[in-house]
Amino acid sequence: TLAAAITLVAGSLLTSAANLWAATPITVKFAHVVAENTPKGKAALRFQELMHERLGDKVKVEVYPNSQLFGDDKVLEAMLLGDVQIAAPSLSKFQKYTKQLQIFDLPFLFKDMAAVDRFQQGPVGQKLLTSLERKGLMGLGYIHNGMKHLSAYDPIRVPADAAGKKFRIQTSDVLAAQFEAVDAVPLKKPFSEVFTLLQTRAIDGTENPWTNIYSKKFFEVQPYITETNHGLLDYMVVTSARFWKKLPDEVRTEMKKAMDEAIAYGNQVAREQEEKDRQLIIDSGVTQVISIGEQERALWVEAMRPVWKEFEKEIGADVIQAALDANQ
Ligand code: LMR
Repeated sequence: TLAAAITLVAGSLLTSAANLWAATPITVKFAHVVAENTPKGKAALRFQELMHERLGDKVKVEVYPNSQLFGDDKVLEAMLLGDVQIAAPSLSKFQKYTKQLQIFDLPFLFKDMAAVDRFQQGPVGQKLLTSLERKGLMGLGYIHNGMKHLSAYDPIRVPADAAGKKFRIQTSDVLAAQFEAVDAVPLKKPFSEVFTLLQTRAIDGTENPWTNIYSKKFFEVQPYITETNHGLLDYMVVTSARFWKKLPDEVRTEMKKAMDEAIAYGNQVAREQEEKDRQLIIDSGVTQVISIGEQERALWVEAMRPVWKEFEKEIGADVIQAALDANQ
């Protein structure tokens, strides 16, 4: 009968669709904005390598560095639409999704990277990985880059030297407040535009860790870098909850394992490369690296610390306290 024929056709269509699904590799696009020779760039490549080693052609990981696929201004929206599956934006770029991660932008909060690590791996840091859940995003872990320094066309030693100067910042109100606290002018701009903005002198300076200053050649258009260590630039690896839950169990398990290992590798790179890139910049002779003494540092701390109070409500006093405890 006709009905039987239709059932038969429909049935075979379904079977071939299922076979097609099984045969089609799962594509995982990992987009980021930095160069490949950075902690995040290398972690992404290690993830790709491990996935290929362990799952062969079943999962195809594609890595897009240097804002090739999406800049950080678009990547999370794109993730929710299913156009990219993994990203690792800096912790300064989640403000539209949660206010809690603003903790990581507070100036002069963490003593050093070991303190950052203790905080991130502790209960409060781990809970922050779930702070994007209501928006459909999941944190898979943190990747370090390092502490930020100020760079500019003029030598900057004390806060008054920064007054009136235009600094490019990431999309973070805390970072805006930090520069306003020293009477500088913050401008929120995408990472991909920083070199040109500096080169054309549309801005006077910026803040970044050594590996970004080196790999993006910012030092070539910034005659002075002041080693302020005033704030942190780290990342959260994120994926969409929908994508993650739909993965076959064994793929999800392998993917998490590979990501954990890639993150550990990236963090080791961060520890080693910071010093190497700093030295390469000094050796270039293009830029003068300025060290500040205790007295000068105290002036920066005094000027910028009031920013904490301004954001305490949004972040949570308990979260700030947990970060401070990690310094001990
Ligand atoms: C920046 O925009 O300065 C950083 O977030 C870039 C990065 O990913 O390190």
